[in-house]
Amino acid sequence: MDKTIDDIQAEALAALESAETAEEVGRLSVRYLGRKGLVTQYLRNISSLPENERPDAGKKANQTKKILEQAIKSAEKRIAAQQKTELVGGVDVTLPGRPAPRGHMHPITQITRRICDIFVRMGFDIVEGPEVESDYYNFEALNIPKNHPARDMQDTFYIAENIVLRTHTSPLQVRMMEQYPPPLRVVAPGKVYRCDSDLTHTPMFHQIEGLLVDEEVSFGDLKGVLTEFVQKVFDPDTSIRFRPSFFPFTEPSAEVDIQCVMCRGRGCKVCSHTGWLEVLGCGMVHPALFENVGYDTRRYCGFAFGMGIERIAMLKYGINDIRLFFESDDRFLRQF
Ligand code: FA5
Ligand code: MG
Repeated sequence: MDKTIDDIQAEALAALESAETAEEVGRLSVRYLGRKGLVTQYLRNISSLPENERPDAGKKANQTKKILEQAIKSAEKRIAAQQKTELVGGVDVTLPGRPAPRGHMHPITQITRRICDIFVRMGFDIVEGPEVESDYYNFEALNIPKNHPARDMQDTFYIAENIVLRTHTSPLQVRMMEQYPPPLRVVAPGKVYRCDSDLTHTPMFHQIEGLLVDEEVSFGDLKGVLTEFVQKVFDPDTSIRFRPSFFPFTEPSAEVDIQCVMCRGRGCKVCSHTGWLEVLGCGMVHPALFENVGYDTRRYCGFAFGMGIERIAMLKYGINDIRLFFESDDRFLRQF
């Protein structure tokens, strides 16, 4: 026997350490541990050694075999990791990744869903309509003829002579009644546009329209539904008051104030020291609308309401500037 088992082991370990490819490791594995490999041959030749040397030699050779098997495995692993790194252009893909920042729903979306949930539980369906609207649906069909002074209440963006960006969600009242026979119970959330901008007004904001049409609907039903709604969105002991108002598409009409959630009615800056805040307009559907859509005015009546979603969100979260909702400032949005 030319080489000692120690020589073979040292030589094999050095070769494995400097191996650079999987093929090289494979060849080394055959060269040392294969059927005709050096360690295998050594083991086979042990029987030709003097009897007293055999046990020690056998033990050593088996140890070497184990050590080399281990070294082959680590060389394979090392090369596999290197190859991966090279594959992706020098980036160590075995490092943990940087977490991507995770967003969440915008506060306006959150409150819209919350409001819709409350009405869905009262049996309303959710519907949607176009933001670019015809003069007919936005005004005419709602009993607001051209040159009617009520058009001044809503500063309008015109797209063309008879096409506008809808100034409220009320066109949905007409669209739904045209499409479906009574009885009807829907809420319609969405974006609306007015040429308006200050602490409590933005040119784009969100409304939710509500419409209920059936036989024998009373103003009492309207009060009940809206009181239930306000107490669900805010809290159960929030006071609410109906104040007579005017809309061409409802008669009688009212605006709903809720007790100021900031000062609990004692009077503060937010409520201009009145103790009350306006959140929505409402009323009994004007018979002219039923005539426009061909509903039987002797049989059916109903109520409608329209609220500003940002206003509700401002009150719920105590926000004093509506523009914060639309500035995409992460420090603000993160809080919801
Ligand atoms: C209307 O828009 C009616 N369509 C509401 C209605 C529906 C009445 C159904 C009767 C029956 P008004 O212009 O008041 O009404 O607007 C309703 C709510 O939208 C207001 O109470 C306010 O909360 C919100 N709002 C109005 N203008 C703005 C604005 N520029 N920015 C943010 N919120 C606004
Ligand atoms: Mg108003």
